[in-house]
Amino acid sequence: MKIGRLTVSDRASAGIYTDLSGPEIERLLRATLGPDLEFLAALVPDEVDRIADQLRAFTDRDACDLVVTTGGTGISARDVTPEATRAVLEKELPGFGEIMRMQSFAKVRTAILSRATAGTRGHTLIVNLPGKPSAVAECLEILGPALREGLAHLRGADPHAPPPAR
Ligand code: MTE
Repeated sequence: MKIGRLTVSDRASAGIYTDLSGPEIERLLRATLGPDLEFLAALVPDEVDRIADQLRAFTDRDACDLVVTTGGTGISARDVTPEATRAVLEKELPGFGEIMRMQSFAKVRTAILSRATAGTRGHTLIVNLPGKPSAVAECLEILGPALREGLAHLRGADPHAPPPAR
């Protein structure tokens, strides 16, 4: 399975911060989806066009099965990841953001400051995560089952088919 991970951060892309969330996404997705994953990584500043261009490259050019973004989902003037994501989505999956906010809220009262969303473009599932590594971990734990099932749907596998006979 091919996965694009996109870190969206003015400061990380300028070299002021180290991108800690991107590598954390790789570690956690290997634990959730299995070890047989190929990762493509990118880092862009908080600009709608740069984010949307990279999302299109991961989907249309690289044919990633899954694209995960980290950062830029909040309410600061420069936070535009959800807008850039919506610009490239064909089908929005609002439940991803809703459940991340709802379940995270039980632990972290500031979780409702995230505007993260998700959806599909062609056969690619695109998911926004918050920027902090701890938030990435909390959200990926919540999303594990939906990621596995959603990826199976997009690959055309029948999720309700009986297991193959031995
Ligand atoms: N979700 C979880 N699970 N854990 C967190 O610590 N932080 C929140 C929220 N969601 C948080 C979280 C905060 S403080 C913000 S501002 C928003 O995510 C947006 O973060 P971002 O702008 O880095 O994407």
